[in-house]
Amino acid sequence: MSGQVHLIEHPLIQHKLTLMRQRDTSTYSFRALLEEISMLMGYEVTRDLPTELREIETPLAPMMAPMVSGKKVVIVAVLRAGMGMLEGILKVLPSARIGHIGMYRDPKTLIPVEYYFKLPQQMEDRQVILVDPMLATGNSAVAAVARIKQTRARSIKYVCLLAAPEGIRTFHEHHPDVPIYTPAIDQRLNDHGYIIPGLGDAGDRLFGTK
Ligand code: URA
Repeated sequence: MSGQVHLIEHPLIQHKLTLMRQRDTSTYSFRALLEEISMLMGYEVTRDLPTELREIETPLAPMMAPMVSGKKVVIVAVLRAGMGMLEGILKVLPSARIGHIGMYRDPKTLIPVEYYFKLPQQMEDRQVILVDPMLATGNSAVAAVARIKQTRARSIKYVCLLAAPEGIRTFHEHHPDVPIYTPAIDQRLNDHGYIIPGLGDAGDRLFGTK
């Protein structure tokens, strides 16, 4: 079974992503653009949230009106670059709960090493939106989803900014049940596990650490 990939080709997202890719884009602009794109992605990703009818009163009449139902969604950010996507998604899901997974790639083996994991309670009743800008080798995404599955979360969606074909393949080999949402699928990975053409190191560009 191969998993679902939702390619989000909205022109505003594509335009903003192009600005982010450019090497001369400042840290300030990079951060602002990631937040804007994440908000727009948040809108796409939440299209199928369940709703239920509630009885309300308008100034003129009572009515049954739809509201999002169920327990609060959890946005899980993979540290550190996933932090850059949180605020944008929170703009459309302001009362979402937030989880953090700390993981870094061992630069030699490219294997993810977990150093932090904190999620809300009652995960079995919650939908998870897992955010990390770069789906490169897919190793840390695979590990992050496996950890979230241990909490018996009701469902998981993976949202990124850029994906490599290799990463998508690896991800769906392990988690065919988890859909990927991305605005772009680039050509390939280089020998260091960076996406080509990509945008460089998302964490460094976001936090200005290089
Ligand atoms: N992580 C990044 O920040 N950039 C890449 O191209 C791959 C992984």
